[in-house]
Amino acid sequence: MCGIVAYVGPKQAYPILINGLKRLEYRGYDSAGIALLNGSLNVYKSKGRVSDLEDLIHDLNLSGTIGIAHTRWATHGEPNTVNAHPHYSQSKQIALIHNGIIENYALLRQELEARGYVFESSTDTEVLTNLIEDIKLNEEVDLFEAVRIALNQVIGAYAIVVISKDDPNTLIAARKGSPLVIGIGKDDYYVASDATPIIEYTKNVVYLDDEEVALIRRNNDLKIKTIRNHEKTPYVQKLEMNLTALEKGGFEHFMLKEIYEQPNSIKDSMRGRVHSELGTVSLGGIIDYEQKLLTANRIIIVACGTSWHAGLVGEYLFEDLARIPVEVEYASEFRYRNPVIYEQDVVIAISQSGETADTLAAIELAKSKGATILGICNVVGSSIARATHAGSYTHAGPEIGVASTKAFTAQVTLLTIMALRLAQLKGTISKSRFMQILLELESIPDKVAETLKTSHVVTKIAEQFKDVRNFLYLGRGYNFPVALEGALKLKEISYIHAEGYPAAEMKHGPIALIDADMPVVVIATNRGTYDKVVSNIQEVKARKGRVIAIVTQGDTIVKEMADYVIEIPETEEMLVPLLATIPLQKLSYHIAVMRGCNVDQPRNLAKSVTVE
Ligand code: AGP
Ligand code: GLU
Repeated sequence: MCGIVAYVGPKQAYPILINGLKRLEYRGYDSAGIALLNGSLNVYKSKGRVSDLEDLIHDLNLSGTIGIAHTRWATHGEPNTVNAHPHYSQSKQIALIHNGIIENYALLRQELEARGYVFESSTDTEVLTNLIEDIKLNEEVDLFEAVRIALNQVIGAYAIVVISKDDPNTLIAARKGSPLVIGIGKDDYYVASDATPIIEYTKNVVYLDDEEVALIRRNNDLKIKTIRNHEKTPYVQKLEMNLTALEKGGFEHFMLKEIYEQPNSIKDSMRGRVHSELGTVSLGGIIDYEQKLLTANRIIIVACGTSWHAGLVGEYLFEDLARIPVEVEYASEFRYRNPVIYEQDVVIAISQSGETADTLAAIELAKSKGATILGICNVVGSSIARATHAGSYTHAGPEIGVASTKAFTAQVTLLTIMALRLAQLKGTISKSRFMQILLELESIPDKVAETLKTSHVVTKIAEQFKDVRNFLYLGRGYNFPVALEGALKLKEISYIHAEGYPAAEMKHGPIALIDADMPVVVIATNRGTYDKVVSNIQEVKARKGRVIAIVTQGDTIVKEMADYVIEIPETEEMLVPLLATIPLQKLSYHIAVMRGCNVDQPRNLAKSVTVE
């Protein structure tokens, strides 16, 4: 998520910081800010683009040879100027920038408020800034020590850089879970979330490891300690990459970058919510509405496109685990259908952008009938997040490619957590079964990483089928929405016509299309209706269709029948969508690239559909 740049040395900091922020724009953000130290410690912030920040401050005196800068992608609190970073501490002696999430911020904030701290923003970041100040003052330690002690009290993910008015020669940097790299120049230091802002100045870098704190001082050697106070020797590496390779994190397109981010984005959406050590899950954002969900007549899920597909997975999850009836509605149909809505209904609106006009209208309609509305959104402070009574953010990070990838897997992760929570509260699941699923959910990021390694076979399949005009995608049960999502992805970015179907429905019509030219993608993983899907594959093969099957590692039966197989790791049936979607995203991506399509901005499509 988002971007960090910092500088200390003999040069003017401002141009280095602002250019660095521009180099990090590809990561996506909603506001930007900068702090310069030159006698006084001045913070300048603005909602919007880095160029808006530049316009705002270009007339001011921006001199100074030490400073920190940030592009924020809101996770806690609306994307506005007050919530933008850097954040001052209460005394304005310290300023801090942060990427990531402080999970225990609410408790820390309460403790600090009890000690007289007043907060200006809604961020978790300001809490950390004041925690550091509080420790510095009360324990009478220097800034480095205060940061180190504070980080021992923090649960969550962070990359931070801290600056203090009383020390114009020092930056403190630390990380856990979010990347941070320190560039070592001839007589200066650079800090950034990736090497893009650094590479034009130096090729010597130190990548901080998790739970390491760096003391970066003008005209001094770099010092690193762990937060548990063990000295570390900085390991200096040479950057091999050039600038172009570093943009988009080294990936050719945002979509590919976002596909590869999924092990982390899924982890981020689980962070602070899955507690296997306690044998429970929680969703802080909807805690006050749990009772409402438990007594609901039914859940109605409203969404569009890919988010609607996530909703379908949600239907299987809620019914299967928590035994609550669910209806999944296209928001655009629901709003004009004069639907029957009761006050005891709970409506869950799912949206990556949080701005989709049809979903918003469906929410307003359900609200006017007295239903309770919960949101699952990726963009913090978005219109849907504000229109709902409560909700949970997916925390997948900014999604820039128009074709949704990591937002989908984050939505499914969140729905899984929600269904598990309700099942636990309702007692519709045994303790041991609950733990089994929970532990498996925790292993999903690693299994996604393993699934991402299937590039070789996926590109071979893409090469083979890139010129066809039609595709069919089949799946059953939890894999039916996966088939729909696979087909949508292909349509959107490669402009090949594709349809997703429940595998057994094929014989009621689409089977007429099958001949030797028709590629049929079948999700045939080894649980649930596996045997039935095997029969469906046979029906396709009998008509000479060409089968591309997604199978569980070690499968032998489908392998014998299919023309191509892509293996994914074994997992719980209800978690298969989180894995099976990945090769389908990659297949669409590679076919689109081979056809010369504009993958990140497909024709006629917009990232947020704010019109009907
Ligand atoms: C996904 O690849 C599409 N671009 C589109 O279907 C999208 O999912 C839909 O427009 C809904 O958007 P939202 O999640 O931002 O509400
Ligand atoms: N959690 C912080 C916030 O909401 C940091 C977000 C980021 O990574 O930019 O302000």
